[in-house]
Amino acid sequence: MSNTILEAENLCKFWGGLKALNELNIKFADKQLHSIVGPNGAGKSTLLNTLCGAYPATSGVILYQGKSITNLKAYEFCRAGIGRSFQKTNIFHDATCLENCCIAAQQRIGGSFNLFRNRSTNKSITEIANSALKQVGLNGRADTKAAEVSYGEQRQLEIAMVLATDPKVLLLDEPMAGMGHEESQIIISLLKELKKHYCIVLVEHDMDAVFELSDLMTVMVDGQHLITDTVENIRNNPLVQDAYLGNDDEVF
Ligand SMILES: Nc1ncnc2c1ncn2[C@@H]1O[C@H](COP(=O)(O)OP(=O)(O)OP(=O)(O)O)[C@@H](O)[C@H]1O
Ligand SMILES: [Mg+2]
Repeated sequence: MSNTILEAENLCKFWGGLKALNELNIKFADKQLHSIVGPNGAGKSTLLNTLCGAYPATSGVILYQGKSITNLKAYEFCRAGIGRSFQKTNIFHDATCLENCCIAAQQRIGGSFNLFRNRSTNKSITEIANSALKQVGLNGRADTKAAEVSYGEQRQLEIAMVLATDPKVLLLDEPMAGMGHEESQIIISLLKELKKHYCIVLVEHDMDAVFELSDLMTVMVDGQHLITDTVENIRNNPLVQDAYLGNDDEVF
């Protein structure tokens, strides 16, 4: 892949004897949406957590723009351009949507957001935060407390918070979890737009969304890479259907 931006080579993450990631080799291309699917416990969240530096790899290498970033600290992954959202929500409910994005933006810039810093620094953080809210269509909610926006809007806010860290790669863990059809459609449209500009690694159980959005899909089972292919080839692969949902008749 010529436009590979992020790559894992023989990546392992062990919890004691449990091989949550077992010799994983995978490449992610710029301006593509690459989904990771697989049954519960397959290691999808562990993969994202390892790719963003939150969990140190047990062994193996993570390459970003061709250079090893394996041993960097989590904040250095973020500053390098790898942004991630969490499977469990990560927002401050008592803060406004704008403040949540400011907190995220300062992670990338460094230092802390507070009223006593010089105005120009705070202004640039606020500008970044406002533009992130605008990218996800939440600019009208800037001054509303996160607790007061709808569940769907909170999930949009989480994406805005990732964007506020000015990433090149977005690692998104189940951004549509718990959403109804209409709310999911908003996220699908948003991700269609964002994938024109970013490398997106999407972990998602909503298969309709995955099929609609993915340029490539990877199936993981028991910490291992099973297959990476196009949506069409994955859908028609009986091996994948077996591995993914076991004996279920109704698959994708
Ligand atoms: N912090 C941890 N400590 C110990 N074991 C862990 C930890 N995090 C994950 N695991 C284990 O690693 C394996 C992979 O978990 P992971 O959360 O990556 O799965 P997943 O594919 O994201 O599943 P789901 O679809 O349910 O979110 C599981 O067996 C899980 O119990
Ligand atoms: Mg998970």
